[in-house]
Amino acid sequence: MLSNTNHGGYFLYHSIGMYPGKEEGLSAAMAEYAAAWSAPNDGQWGYVLGRRQEFIDLWRHEINAPEGTLTTCESVTDGLHRLIRALPEGMLRDKRVLVAADCFPSLHFLLAGLAPKLGFTLHTVPLSEGKAWVEAEDFIAHWGRDVALALITLVTSTASARVDLAPLVAHGREMGSLIGVDITQAAGLLPFDAQEPKVDFVLSTSLKWICGTSGAGILYIDAPLIPSLNPEGRGWFSQDNPFSWDLDAFDYAPDIRRFDGGTPSALAALASVPALKWQATQDRPQMLDRNRQMVERIIARADALDLPLHSPRDAGARGGTVILRLADAEQAAAMVTALGAEGFSVDCRSALLRLSPGVVTRVDAIEGLFDVMAAQLKRRVA
Ligand SMILES: Cc1ncc(COP(=O)(O)O)c(C=O)c1O
Repeated sequence: MLSNTNHGGYFLYHSIGMYPGKEEGLSAAMAEYAAAWSAPNDGQWGYVLGRRQEFIDLWRHEINAPEGTLTTCESVTDGLHRLIRALPEGMLRDKRVLVAADCFPSLHFLLAGLAPKLGFTLHTVPLSEGKAWVEAEDFIAHWGRDVALALITLVTSTASARVDLAPLVAHGREMGSLIGVDITQAAGLLPFDAQEPKVDFVLSTSLKWICGTSGAGILYIDAPLIPSLNPEGRGWFSQDNPFSWDLDAFDYAPDIRRFDGGTPSALAALASVPALKWQATQDRPQMLDRNRQMVERIIARADALDLPLHSPRDAGARGGTVILRLADAEQAAAMVTALGAEGFSVDCRSALLRLSPGVVTRVDAIEGLFDVMAAQLKRRVA
């Protein structure tokens, strides 16, 4: 049995990411915050806003976002909400908003609720018969000139399917649509550049492969687009000078700060700074390579057990997670329990077992994990 303290059997990066020293980094950041926030002086805001800016700058570096184009939000859903409510009046009216059926459900819930209010039709590109993810060509086939906004999931949470952005963005440009990308399941593992191909907005959280905390979402918007956006939730921090308090002279900041509203909630951002700093010093191609080697080994062992793959077999079309299909939800839940008892952290959604090996996952843990799985499957057959 693997020890819980060395995290070697941890396969849950699609849910919460881990890195060596995470607990120490987070504890130190929280202790530093407690000390600064409790000090009987006037240094609190300088400290807190400085750390929040550090979070923003580290994220800018992560996705190649110029200054003034990226801000914090609570979650991906929150970021999308704020962006859509800031669009010019009537921009979505009588148009379509395009998403795929394998987008993150929370975003679909949001869009479905906004559709009647803003007068757009939410068009959900379905999965083809027997398919585990929506293919790019199917998405493109439904993407016409009446699509005002398209939301693309870079790596799906349901199959770990990764889209090739370039052809999608090229098509979207021809259609004149606003193009947004949810990079949540890719950030911190797969390279992503908001300028190549250039997209209009990007959303993510910090708690998965990035290894930060919840509540530390990000919203990036392409600079030329920002002046046309009027965030509904405007407040003193939406201004260039938050201390401009003339009731009749509200003025949006010229850049992304116009999305900041009231006093920024900085705690989650500063709690995620140690993880982002750690990320910034890593050999990312090597990290990805190690993940891929582990996933290849998982696939080889799953094949040997005749467990169907619910993710792309081609590494280039996949994120860092690999998903296996068990017989049913009951079998998958029993497998998660059996593995957990032996120190392997995995999870399931219905009959789908999700495995995401990352930097703290030991390569040899895969053999141990599959030995437990093989025994468990044999038990079921017997
Ligand atoms: C693809 C994807 N998008 C978004 C999210 C999270 O969205 P939110 O931050 O709104 O909870 C997840 C979480 O698992 C996800 O996998």
